[in-house]
Amino acid sequence: MAARLIAEAGPGFDNAANRDPLPGRRLEMEPREGGDMPELKVGLIGAGWMGRAHAMAYRTARLVFGGKPAAPVLEVVADATEEIAARAAAELGFRRHARDWREVVEDPAVDIVDITTPNDMHYEVAMAAIAAGKHIHCEKPLTNDAATSFAMAEAAEKAGVTTTVGFNYIKNPVQGVARKLVEDGEIGAVTYFRGLFNSDSAGRPDIPFAWRNSKARAGSGVIGDVGAHCFAYARHLVPEPVEEVMCDLRIVVPERPDAGTAGWASPGSGGSAMVPVDTDDVATAMIRFAGGAIGHLEMSRVSLGRRMEIGYDITGTEGALRYQYERINELQHYRESGPPETRGFKRIEMGPTDPRYAAFFPVSGIGAGYSDFKAIEAQEFLEAVAAGRPAYPDFRWGAEIQRLIDACILSDAERRWVKVAEVGPRPPRR
Ligand SMILES: NC(=O)c1ccc[n+]([C@@H]2O[C@H](COP(=O)([O-])OP(=O)(O)OC[C@H]3O[C@@H](n4cnc5c(N)ncnc54)[C@H](O)[C@@H]3O)[C@@H](O)[C@H]2O)c1
Repeated sequence: MAARLIAEAGPGFDNAANRDPLPGRRLEMEPREGGDMPELKVGLIGAGWMGRAHAMAYRTARLVFGGKPAAPVLEVVADATEEIAARAAAELGFRRHARDWREVVEDPAVDIVDITTPNDMHYEVAMAAIAAGKHIHCEKPLTNDAATSFAMAEAAEKAGVTTTVGFNYIKNPVQGVARKLVEDGEIGAVTYFRGLFNSDSAGRPDIPFAWRNSKARAGSGVIGDVGAHCFAYARHLVPEPVEEVMCDLRIVVPERPDAGTAGWASPGSGGSAMVPVDTDDVATAMIRFAGGAIGHLEMSRVSLGRRMEIGYDITGTEGALRYQYERINELQHYRESGPPETRGFKRIEMGPTDPRYAAFFPVSGIGAGYSDFKAIEAQEFLEAVAAGRPAYPDFRWGAEIQRLIDACILSDAERRWVKVAEVGPRPPRR
């Protein structure tokens, strides 16, 4: 009954990993000297927080998954200046550094271009990488608007290159369990989704101005930055798309001290000059799904005391799921069955029943974390590239998330419910 209700609720999950091989070019991978394992050479663009996380992820993936079916090689890195790139190459273990990102994209030795720059560069770099026939691992949000995101997805599909987007939170093995429970009808038909991503990463007003505070660079504030992750949870777990949004965006800290840097800087490290902030610090959204379910999202970077309050509640006609990042390896499942006096949420703890988890740890309860999920993301991308098929999630998936972000921005600007179909090009269903 529950499975039937779910099947009726909407078009079902869109898992690109199950799609057929890419129609375009297949990769001819080089065998390694003295070994059978082919290599995939990575060119990283942007060696900040995420650049380091991605470099670590490829190294960990190589170690944990044995370099199969292809061994990632940290080939070349570029950053804003040659000096930063040279330092990053030495610290992160890249073979070489480049003077400019264009050198990485045009480098014939590079198989994978990995984009971890501020958001405003993603489109230009990715389009150049697609034109050069490279596979691409790009951080979220995919770009600064849905039109460029869909253009990127279409160009990549046409070129037959494999793409993925950094929605690492859905790579936590518990999110695979959660998705399967929903798919198997274990909570019935989804009726409500509540997503949270609150932090105090920019809580203090003396935290200096960074690229995230600039609309020109970041596209938006928390709605694009962490709202993207909330929407990714919803898209991964709810088998029907979000159709309509009503959103409110607020700037809480209107100006921040200039520290002469666009990146992360510690509180109090800025000077006396102030820079105006034009991206949202707080966002709330009501959402409606195609099959009738409703939801509510809460996002903030100024929630003092909330270090990382990330999670969701999903209510269904026969049960519920609950996840909180503070209990990173646990999922709570409620089922409306059995003697009423014994009913309650069951705690599911991640363990080696999941093959990704098992590759790291042979026992339950040790605890996988953020960097492990980044390594799983890298590994699944390498596997897709090696097989010549789309990765999950791919650029089209990321573009659909960008469309939701655009819809939220429009809703805030016009103070009304916005249909997602009003925003950006409607992509052809494949
Ligand atoms: N998936 C996640 O959990 C997650 C977390 C944080 C950030 N992100 C995303 O990752 C991306 C980077 O964020 P971050 O926090 O690492 O930022 P960051 O400021 O720490 O790093 C950005 C890097 O890009 C470099 N850069 C700037 N201009 C450049 C240019 N012209 N050429 C080459 N490099 C250039 C900067 O010097 C810096 O090293 C963003 O898109 C962000 O939204 C994702």
